[in-house]
Amino acid sequence: MEAIQVLKGMRDLLPEQTAWWQRMERELAGVLDRFGYQELRTPLLEPTALFKRSIGEATDIVEKEMYTFQDLDGSSVTLRPEGTASAVRAYLENFTWKKEPISRWYYLGTMFRHEKPQKGRYRMFSQVGAELLGAAEPAADVELIDLAVECVRAVGLSEATLELNSLGCPACRPAYRERLVAYLRVQRSALCEPCQRRLETNPLRVLDCKVEGCQKVAEEAPRILDFLGPECLSHLEAVRAGLESMGHAYRLNHRMVRGLDYYSRTTFELLTGGLGAQSAVAGGGRYDGLVAQLGGPEIPAVGFAAGLDRILLRLAELREPPQGPPIIFVASQGEAGWRAALPLVQRLRRAGHKVLSDVRAGSLKAQLKRADKDRARLVLVLGEEEIQAGAVSVKDMAAPEGAQDKQVRCALADLDRLLGEKLGGVK
Ligand code: HAM
Repeated sequence: MEAIQVLKGMRDLLPEQTAWWQRMERELAGVLDRFGYQELRTPLLEPTALFKRSIGEATDIVEKEMYTFQDLDGSSVTLRPEGTASAVRAYLENFTWKKEPISRWYYLGTMFRHEKPQKGRYRMFSQVGAELLGAAEPAADVELIDLAVECVRAVGLSEATLELNSLGCPACRPAYRERLVAYLRVQRSALCEPCQRRLETNPLRVLDCKVEGCQKVAEEAPRILDFLGPECLSHLEAVRAGLESMGHAYRLNHRMVRGLDYYSRTTFELLTGGLGAQSAVAGGGRYDGLVAQLGGPEIPAVGFAAGLDRILLRLAELREPPQGPPIIFVASQGEAGWRAALPLVQRLRRAGHKVLSDVRAGSLKAQLKRADKDRARLVLVLGEEEIQAGAVSVKDMAAPEGAQDKQVRCALADLDRLLGEKLGGVK
């Protein structure tokens, strides 16, 4: 029978990988907590209309990347391709805006996009995201950008570089869009086929197309920054001043337009090397119109999300693998040894140690081999002699062969003291 395989663009994370993930998630939760962000968990499945209305009908995500299907009751549902739309839905549905003037939320979880898989691009991937709802001030943008940088830095990617742009607002963007479309129409024949279509539906997206011909056209295109109204311009200047006073280096990139339609004013991305075309490890920006667009009051907001799969791909090249706590392996001989080992194993685990023992019946020699394979730091041996003496033999796997304290006999009553000495209080 043919073996069943994992779906294209999806993958298993085996224990040697989940150790990296767990460390990264712990570090991220620490940073987010220090910034005062609280965790939000929303369903993976949402009404399709939520994403159509927020991300935008003319985006790649909504046009061709959503996992959308009909639920048993006939309604159209979609596996979430991102977290911002769900966060805003929850914010409105729970009337959070009535209860607090400012909300700082974060989420960590799985997203789904039916993209063409390649290095750093999957159909099921994980993001950490943060949203600050209720503040229109540039200080909020600065806090979010600083948070994104700190998240990426805390997990070990201090090399990431920051790119910044402003997409203007509904007052100044239409004039820019008009000028851009006029320019692109003249250049039409130099554009790739999808961009010839985008030119009519979502012309700003032409600016960040990766095809060489389109890039050349984009380089000469009118720049949004030259069209910003006075308020958008002073907002951008204040964000820049804030970033500069925190020492954050950045590059202004007028071609960074992002793949979602809800942005206004500030947009930003964090980029890193080693990932080829998928160099964006995080992206975000301000989305002042989205809450109202989803049926709520006019509430300004800003946020970002980072791609954890991409970060980890890069980290595996830069960082040491995570080290777990020291392992104590309990080996025993015969039925009596096994029975004496059980309460010892239980006591040590309850005291907070990481303790392994072999559940297969095997010789002492086989168990010692196993302990070595498991990279145990200490092996406690309970043989006949030890049981009779109310003691254990403690083998220190880190001590050099022949050293005096390589193997010592220790009374059970004295074991805690010896473990403290050997492990230096590390559990
Ligand atoms: P996004 O730029 O679409 O923004 O995604 C954020 C990050 O998720 C990307 O920079 C990338 O690292 C990662 N990512 C996206 N697609 C994939 C994929 N197919 N495979 C692996 N990683 C991927 C958003 O999702 C917005 N919701 C961010 C935001 C929050 N804006 C405001 N608040």
